[in-house]
Amino acid sequence: MGSLSGGNDGAQRRTLERMISRLGLCSRASAREFVLAGRVTLDGRVVRDPDLWLRAAGARLELDGRVLSAAEAVYLALHKPKGYLTTSSDPKQRKTVYDLLEGQATWVAPVGRLDQDTSGLLLFSNDSDWASGITAPESELEKRYRVRAAPSIGPAAIADLERGVVLDDGPTRPAFVSEFRDYNGYCVFELAITEGRNRQVRRMLAAVGSKVQELRRVAIGPVELGDLPSGKLRPLTKTEVRRLRVGGAPRRTRGG
Ligand code: URA
Repeated sequence: MGSLSGGNDGAQRRTLERMISRLGLCSRASAREFVLAGRVTLDGRVVRDPDLWLRAAGARLELDGRVLSAAEAVYLALHKPKGYLTTSSDPKQRKTVYDLLEGQATWVAPVGRLDQDTSGLLLFSNDSDWASGITAPESELEKRYRVRAAPSIGPAAIADLERGVVLDDGPTRPAFVSEFRDYNGYCVFELAITEGRNRQVRRMLAAVGSKVQELRRVAIGPVELGDLPSGKLRPLTKTEVRRLRVGGAPRRTRGG
């Protein structure tokens, strides 16, 4: 293993906790714990302040006496089944998405989250810069959901969803409804949104007088869930990783 001076962090300054987690080896919370527990040395000396600002270039960090160097970047897509929490641990011992990562040797974290009752595409990576580019609100990356809702909604509600509805945390950005099918008492359609607020699709449907019965994320920007079986992982292709890094699919314009 090499020291940090061989990495690509340049001369940027970061806190110790952030510097460790950016190596792609563990979460920031774990990095903090390691430092507080006195397990980390910086240039041979124990450092106990996770908020210490450092210059990345030249710092030699060790954990339990082993030099820390950047892990290989890992990018994965999971088909999350319903019933799994997007968290690393649950005090109530419920199933989490980490239960589906068994055999995955490198530490990775979910990129964004899905509700316990939502299924579909969830990305994982140990590349925190790439992940934050995807989850940043300003990325305006399109997430597409397959929605089943009841009661069914009419053209006025569809127009409201597409224009943006007012939620308790503010108005939503314009959304796109497609493949709308009206059944007896319920409807099924795809909804594309460019935000990732908490329970956003469920709250948007509630705002137009309906209720989500089933929700599955079928795409994140250029990455499609496709026929990935429920509960299974696949590595992202280099093209998918690159396209997500440069901002995903171009934003849709109405009528475009
Ligand atoms: N919107 C929701 O309501 N839930 C999700 O899990 C994702 C988007």
